[in-house]
Amino acid sequence: MTDLPANIPPEKTPRHVAMIMDGNGRWALQRGLPRLAGHKAGTENLRRIIRATVEFGVKYLTIYAFSTENWGRPAEEVNGLMLILQNVIDRELKELHAEGVQLRHIGRLERLDPAVQKKVLRAIDLTKNNQRLILNVAFNYGGRDEIVNAIQRIVKEGIPADEVNDELVSRYLFTVGVPDPDLIVRTSGELRISNFLIWQAAYSEWYVTPTLWPDFDKEEYRRALQTYANRDRRYGKVSSGELQGSNA
Ligand code: IPE
Ligand code: IPE
Ligand code: MG
Repeated sequence: MTDLPANIPPEKTPRHVAMIMDGNGRWALQRGLPRLAGHKAGTENLRRIIRATVEFGVKYLTIYAFSTENWGRPAEEVNGLMLILQNVIDRELKELHAEGVQLRHIGRLERLDPAVQKKVLRAIDLTKNNQRLILNVAFNYGGRDEIVNAIQRIVKEGIPADEVNDELVSRYLFTVGVPDPDLIVRTSGELRISNFLIWQAAYSEWYVTPTLWPDFDKEEYRRALQTYANRDRRYGKVSSGELQGSNA
């Protein structure tokens, strides 16, 4: 059952939404709180956004939680973010599983603390047959790192150069099997990609809002989907409406 307004037909609902959950630090700063308080508020919001995604009938959700560049933040913040990831799994896994959410990870798991790795792998294994929503968590993820990793494996496997094409490269990315994002949402107003899904975003539509991540609510999510539904995705061609109008 979907909760979309009647004016959004299912074929205009994105199959895959990706979110750059940005602005937690500024949210905390505005309240005179430590940055980690912003990350905690952001996590609470994530729980609401996951539920809304299921209700809206979006099949894939990818969330940018920690980038390969975020290691450069103060140790206290990095350690806090690692703890938050573990706490989220501990607190939410049972319910997410019951709701039919399949958890996946994109990025480099092997660079994380062994205890975190174990938790993530357990969550992935437990939920692997769920089909209602595929939730990709980008944690220690970088788009360039993903492409470098793909090239290394392609070369190591001795794949002949003339067999390397778009489709093959896509199969060597962390997102193997996941359709490219139709819509990318970035909160907190920054107009940049910050190393997120740089290959997969080739023809994604964007929704950028000044709202800080902890304040990005279901109603604004709905507006983002409505905006998406009104976009004309041309993929470098001319719009289908124009073609019909020109007797071409
Ligand atoms: C996004 O919020 C969360 C992570 C990068 C982990 P930020 O922490 O980047 O918040 P701002 O951009 O400093 O406000
Ligand atoms: C992108 O946000 C990474 C995540 C949301 C996890 P950043 O806050 O790290 O990006 P920049 O530094 O503003 O580009
Ligand atoms: Mg930021």
